[in-house]
Amino acid sequence: MKALILAGGYATRLRPLSCARPKTLFPIVNKPLLQWIFERLAKNGVDEAILAVNALTQFYIRQQKPPRYGLKVKFSIDPPKKPLGTAGPIKKAEKLLGYNEPFIVLNGDIFADINYQALLETHRKTKALATITLCSVDDPCSFGVAELVNGNSIKRFIEKPAKGQAPSNLINAGAYVLSPKIFEYIPAGRAVSIEREVFPKLADEGKLMGFCMNGLWMDIGKPQEYLEANKVILDSLAMKNQISPEGFAVKQPIALDQGVTVGEKSVIGPYAVVGKNAKIGSNVRISNSVLFAEAEIADGAVLNGVIIGEGAKIGKNVKLDPGCIVGDQARIKDNVCLPEGSAICPAKEVSENVLKAKLNC
Ligand code: GDD
Ligand code: MG
Repeated sequence: MKALILAGGYATRLRPLSCARPKTLFPIVNKPLLQWIFERLAKNGVDEAILAVNALTQFYIRQQKPPRYGLKVKFSIDPPKKPLGTAGPIKKAEKLLGYNEPFIVLNGDIFADINYQALLETHRKTKALATITLCSVDDPCSFGVAELVNGNSIKRFIEKPAKGQAPSNLINAGAYVLSPKIFEYIPAGRAVSIEREVFPKLADEGKLMGFCMNGLWMDIGKPQEYLEANKVILDSLAMKNQISPEGFAVKQPIALDQGVTVGEKSVIGPYAVVGKNAKIGSNVRISNSVLFAEAEIADGAVLNGVIIGEGAKIGKNVKLDPGCIVGDQARIKDNVCLPEGSAICPAKEVSENVLKAKLNC
């Protein structure tokens, strides 16, 4: 079975970290999201993944080379400066996907524990052209929302309904099985939204089904959601992750990648994810935070609830309040304090205290 992974969006809400990597390459507990996706697809009997990307996303993915778990991986690239939306890339990849059997389509920015085999079986049992994985959430308004009738038939699909207008709490989890006939519903050569143009039409024609999931589902669209996803996975891995530190204290759960060094009297955790080769000095406190690879944290720094980009350097006694995001290779000089919600652009140098949170470029 084949799967198409949509990964050509721009992730504006995760700037400045998304300036240098697509969302699908954001590490979740030190493993790029795309690697988690490949792993789950391979376990579910998928043998080929087609990455629907833009040229830049393709560049970053090729550079990073996430392990493929035996999957054959192909790229299908949106035309230069013409993003195709969420359905256009499916049409563009039609020859790669083939006309013989149903295939999976995934949003590449979702961490989800979905049984794709069961999704496929649900699809096969009905005459649906599309079967959408549905997940129940408290506030459905920033998602696609489905209204079910007669068990699992979707009567209405509304993308991002206005407050109070959502017909249910069942949202589009961003994982579908589609039959090849879907290609006839997508105009070629332009941006098409599957949520706004294709699903409502299929719902009207009675060809849209829902598959309700109940496992873990997380969207990493916003910084808070990204940190939360790391926390949830840390919790689920904590038992396998016991380490015996030398000279520093650990408050589980934490995850330290290869080559991480930590100085004396530092306290790491709870909920600290530290990327490959990061260097942490002495008397440092890190909690509820994610540090990307090669980050350097000098003595006495205090980080809580923050995301530190690749190779960023945090000076001595720096204090970063919750919600701070430090871009790749940025430098925060000694003794600087950043208030809640500050965002520092890649390679930016900050040498004075910032009093009010803003994007610093
Ligand atoms: N190749 C390509 N080209 N991919 C794209 C493009 C494009 O022009 N635009 C978006 N994508 C990819 C994104 O990278 C992402 O993986 C996926 O398509 C969905 O786009 P988002 O921009 O992340 O949409 P959303 O999060 O606002 O809403 C979607 O996901 C929700 C679940 O998180 C919708 O599918 C909702 O209905 C759904 O509930
Ligand atoms: Mg999204």
